[in-house]
Amino acid sequence: MNLKPRYAVFGNPVAHSKSPQIHQEFAKQEGADIDYGRICADIGGFAEAAARFFAEGGQGANVTLPFKVDAYNWVDEHSERALAAGAVNTVIPLGGGRFLGDNTDGVGMVQDILKAQNVGIAGRNILIIGAGGAVRGVVPVLQDEKPAGIVIANRTPEKARELAGRFGVQTALLSELPADGFDIIINASSGGLSGELPDIAPEVFGKCLLAYDMVYGKEAEPFLRFARASGAVQTADGLGMLVGQAAFSYQLWRGFAPDIVPVIRTIKEL
Ligand code: ATR
Repeated sequence: MNLKPRYAVFGNPVAHSKSPQIHQEFAKQEGADIDYGRICADIGGFAEAAARFFAEGGQGANVTLPFKVDAYNWVDEHSERALAAGAVNTVIPLGGGRFLGDNTDGVGMVQDILKAQNVGIAGRNILIIGAGGAVRGVVPVLQDEKPAGIVIANRTPEKARELAGRFGVQTALLSELPADGFDIIINASSGGLSGELPDIAPEVFGKCLLAYDMVYGKEAEPFLRFARASGAVQTADGLGMLVGQAAFSYQLWRGFAPDIVPVIRTIKEL
């Protein structure tokens, strides 16, 4: 019988997920012994797979693509962050067969920017490129840090306007962004997955302290290379965000707050 506390990440595909290694690093910090697996649920089969996992004693789950909205619909209660994002990446059992859904993606990114990239957010001008699900989760958490302003720009301007209206931030056309206008520029568009760059002028990066891509690895490279060549002082891919969101999940399940900085270093070397 397996007596270790059991956790898992649900996704499809999920074989590539670094979450098991990340959570084992956190467990080392805590001095705990945990079991953290990957579960590849069938498309449309999240609810059944999650119910089985928790019936068999699972103590917490992470959820990645394409199940974050399925998880949102499956849980019984939502944190404010999950409600704002409309998506759940962390499931916490409440007992009595009830489950809480949270979303730690936004706080994970903010902690990475503050603690690992050492870039302050308060008083900064922030540009977010993209207006998809990922942006919904991060805007309210960025607002909590009191930036001077947030501008959302997207290939489809109506979607940027809709999100900007919801959160009370600004919007602009990609082709009309001001030169030297932003301290932090975050790429949340999925264009990099197909090797495409957002259609913005290099001058937009003129005063950029940090260019950040929410994806990590090869897919982030074209945007970060363009940002550096255009004058961005510092660049970061989303690996730190991945470790950051995992750290908040771990804390929600176990009450232990891992230090993300050494774990980002270790995972980068894998
Ligand atoms: P996610 O949940 O990762 O945010 P999504 O909801 O599918 O994914 O959103 C993808 C985002 O990337 C959208 O803002 C999309 O722009 P559109 O609203 O115009 O579709 C953006 N995107 C995808 N491919 C892009 C490309 N080649 N150039 C610019 N933006 C792109």
